[in-house]
Amino acid sequence: MRIERELEGLRAATGAWRAAGRRIALVPTMGALHAGHLALVAEARRRADAVVTSIFVNPLQFLPGEDLDRYPRDEAGDLAKLREAGCDLAWLPTPAVMYPPGAATVIEPAGPAEGWEGAERPGHFRGVATVCTKLFMMTRADVAVFGEKDWQQLQVIRRVVADLHLPLEIVGLPTVRDTDGLALSSRNQRLAPEHRARAAALPRRLDALAAALAAGRPAGDALAEARAALAAEGFGVDYLALVVPETLAPWPGGQTGEARLIAAARLGDVRLLDNIPARVLA
Ligand code: PAF
Repeated sequence: MRIERELEGLRAATGAWRAAGRRIALVPTMGALHAGHLALVAEARRRADAVVTSIFVNPLQFLPGEDLDRYPRDEAGDLAKLREAGCDLAWLPTPAVMYPPGAATVIEPAGPAEGWEGAERPGHFRGVATVCTKLFMMTRADVAVFGEKDWQQLQVIRRVVADLHLPLEIVGLPTVRDTDGLALSSRNQRLAPEHRARAAALPRRLDALAAALAAGRPAGDALAEARAALAAEGFGVDYLALVVPETLAPWPGGQTGEARLIAAARLGDVRLLDNIPARVLA
């Protein structure tokens, strides 16, 4: 596996692949890789001839006071996992490569970026959209693979790619979960043991909520009850909502169809995000 930290090296590799007619897949990550990331790499392998995985803890998507400094980092472990997974190139730009002195251009997404994470973390999706657009341009990928765990992020990326006419396909993969149902996330490492033991109550509540909605229970009541139950279980609930999957707009009352349940809840200083599909019977 090739490891590149400078744009020249990355461009030489991807340029040669393109000249040879090879299809390039990108898996954007912030490192601290787990089985969920490796599933993305495996999917990228199936969809392309050459796989690039980027590892970059993007300062632009962290708000002041968030966990940028405490974000888990394990470069040696990540590279070993990527080698094992059959990745062809690990792209490890430094902040100065990604944002050279004087850099002043950002991508400001609206639409699905508004509300939920966008409201809780103002500027977060500007950082995500900007770095992903840069990664797409730097790698000249034909396809990029993202996890559905960050559902709103995936919809924002799809919107940006469509709006900017970027010539690549975006693929979303279902969330990979631990044996107790907790969605895998690099931040799970930071959960205190007592919080980790309690964390799977979040996906359990989402599943129960989806079952209630599919049985025709009014969404407002079911959501309020689930929020209260999570609070009683010790979660600080930032939001728990039923939304239109692609736009993230609140699900219209009285409408039957395929919606998405999205949630963000805190245990200690770790924020857990989760989401699942929900069939609503109105
Ligand atoms: O989901 C992530 O890990 C990050 O938001 C991403 C897409 C790599 C952009 O920094």
